[in-house]
Amino acid sequence: MENTILVTGGAGFIGSNFILQRMERDSASIVNLDKLTYAGNLHNLEAITNERRYEFVHGDIADRSLVRGLLERRKPRAIVHFAAESHVDRSIRGPEDFIRTNVDGTFALLEEVRAYWEVLVDQERADFRFLHVSTDEVYGSLGPSDPAFSESTPYAPNSPYAASKAASDHFVRAYHHTYGLPVLTTNCSNNYGRFQFPEKLIPLVILNARDGKPLPVYGDGQNVRDWLYVADHCEAIANVLTRGRVGETYNIGGWNEKRNIDIVETICDMVDEMAGSRGASRRNLITFVKDRPGHDRRYAMDATKIERELDWRPVETFESGIRKTVRWYLENEEWVRDVTSGSYRQWIETHYSS
Ligand code: NAD
Ligand code: DAU
Repeated sequence: MENTILVTGGAGFIGSNFILQRMERDSASIVNLDKLTYAGNLHNLEAITNERRYEFVHGDIADRSLVRGLLERRKPRAIVHFAAESHVDRSIRGPEDFIRTNVDGTFALLEEVRAYWEVLVDQERADFRFLHVSTDEVYGSLGPSDPAFSESTPYAPNSPYAASKAASDHFVRAYHHTYGLPVLTTNCSNNYGRFQFPEKLIPLVILNARDGKPLPVYGDGQNVRDWLYVADHCEAIANVLTRGRVGETYNIGGWNEKRNIDIVETICDMVDEMAGSRGASRRNLITFVKDRPGHDRRYAMDATKIERELDWRPVETFESGIRKTVRWYLENEEWVRDVTSGSYRQWIETHYSS
């Protein structure tokens, strides 16, 4: 077995941040298996494209013969599974892709990984890990004074996206319980940072604010999310991969609960400060729009377990992370131009016109 990690979905937002961070901080080789859906972007990884320790493979996690061949050829010591359809609004408009990738795809991957792992011997078999990257949305929605989600909170997924992730989490758990596959699961809160596709709240608002376009806030804007800077999430995953207890799940969060309206106002003020406001606050662009169907009211993560067991804590505060993020989107016009053509424009038109 080689010192190689197979990352799935590594051309997406979190996956590409994870690969760049690990290439810098670790000595492992990384193989990135990605289907390059609308959300996958190889430009994110330009800095390492020619590195000997990095290989990109274009393909689907549900393509079992491709996955089998890849495992045989590269003999990874671990899998870090990011690949998924990840946008709640898209799952409401068309859930099928979410079942195909998040459920069927994860199942196919688990089957091939199990076959690979079962014939490993001794230390290699004992050291192998399958880390499944999941979300806080599987726990459902909290009331205003409910305690934050812990690892023992019962699952209650509300959107088709959350249901598909919950299903994949259950398969991962079952593969450990039934076959002994050495799995780890992480459930993380909302991420933000560079490379996030601008269909998601934070990059969408930054770019619309920059361009003087309406800033769509769903419902009354009082929904609460718990925000974590993406580099902190990646470091947490690396910690769980190295030192997490097999079969366990770890909640990851930044202790940073914010109402959507407060996030949007903060971004308006930062864009005014960084790009100039010509006397008119960008807060005037805020537009309340029809609510997301089934919109979860509040998420909050109790990250005590990972802090206590693995000594992980976020480095970035929300204030420092959001400043870096706003600056990055304002300074990376070419990246933005690249991802906001074609299918992106079509999504924005269809989704926000209704
Ligand atoms: P993303 O949508 O930005 O990226 C997903 C990546 O997966 C893309 O590169 C895409 O091309 C690839 N992909 C999709 N279907 C595939 C398939 N069938 N085979 C191979 N590759 C495929 O997603 P993200 O925001 O980076 O999220 C990554 C993971 O983290 C997901 O599993 C998501 O559920 C989880 N997560 C995300 C957040 C968040 O706030 N973004 C928070 C917690 C957990
Ligand atoms: O909690 C983790 C999850 O966070 C991840 O599992 C998902 O992959 C990720 O997409 C994210 O889901 P959310 O639905 O919370 O993120 P999104 O950025 O789509 O929305 C954040 C909040 O902002 C949510 O309450 C809906 C609201 N919103 C979103 C958009 C796109 C708006 O008010 N207006 C918008 O235009």
